Amino acid sequence: MTLDGIREQIGNALADHLPKNSEHSEQLVRAIAWGVLGGGKRLRGTLVYTVSEGFSTSNIAGALDFAVAIELMHSYSLIHDDLPSMDDADLRRGKPSTHKKFGAAMATLAGDALQALAFDVIANSKYLSSSQIARGCKVLAVASGWRGMVGGQAWDISDEQPVGSESELSQLHQAKTGEIFKAAILLGLIVGDQDLDPDTLEWGEKFGMKLGWVFQMVDDVIDVTQSSDTTGKPALHDDKLGKITYPQLLGMEGTLERIECARKELKQFLKEKDLENSLLDDLVWRCIDRVA
Ligand code: IPE
Ligand code: IPE
Ligand code: MG
Ligand code: MG
Ligand code: MG
Repeated sequence: MTLDGIREQIGNALADHLPKNSEHSEQLVRAIAWGVLGGGKRLRGTLVYTVSEGFSTSNIAGALDFAVAIELMHSYSLIHDDLPSMDDADLRRGKPSTHKKFGAAMATLAGDALQALAFDVIANSKYLSSSQIARGCKVLAVASGWRGMVGGQAWDISDEQPVGSESELSQLHQAKTGEIFKAAILLGLIVGDQDLDPDTLEWGEKFGMKLGWVFQMVDDVIDVTQSSDTTGKPALHDDKLGKITYPQLLGMEGTLERIECARKELKQFLKEKDLENSLLDDLVWRCIDRVA
């Protein structure tokens, strides 16, 4: 299997899990599909898959259920991130964002439904044990809620605690993006029960957090350097919103230095588990090399 093949498989599995019709609102069904399908790199889902593959887990169907769940959660976070009351972004994955197409209220509801669906998919998995389902739900709940992504998003949009230093910005990135990446790695470990080994669990937590942190830094660089035709998102949007980003705080050169440093650290993590030259290795570079 190639990374592109995995991405496609996740895309198909996502489509299978989405509602096809509703007695209550066809608009909601369409808004959900709009926000999830037809684009997206599926990096978090592919992380789940490649971690489980890297640890020689044969339960591909179980990995796919976790991959679908984390991509549903991620899609919800993007729909809400783009809302006029948040980043007010009109373009996502090369298309009008969900609220541009369906209105802010329906986009909000589509995001709400996707968050619930993420847990629904895990809870009803036929391929995961009860214990894996419970551990997976816990990991995803902690990563996506007030302690993780939502907490980071709240910090990102509010001025109650302005980000002024590199260490604060690093904490913000870890919360809003690192936590979900960490969850992706942990879900990949849970598929083969490797999370039950405390050393491997700690390895996964640190590795995932570092990868998510650097991924957000790369995203901030791309916001400045790439066109909206390439990213499928509005260009130069962070500056327009007055966001504090790494390029803004450290300059482009300083930011690229940080990314280079993180790249070396990530290599060490992979080496520790004999995962050099694995699909996971390729995926890690795919996450970072987008700055080039
Ligand atoms: C965008 O994530 C949001 C960030 C955390 C920077 P992705 O760049 O992974 O978005 P998609 O899923 O590929 O559209
Ligand atoms: C969003 O970060 C992170 C999320 C938790 C959704 P950004 O606001 O930088 O993501 P993009 O650039 O809109 O994709
Ligand atoms: Mg944002
Ligand atoms: Mg945004
Ligand atoms: Mg961004």
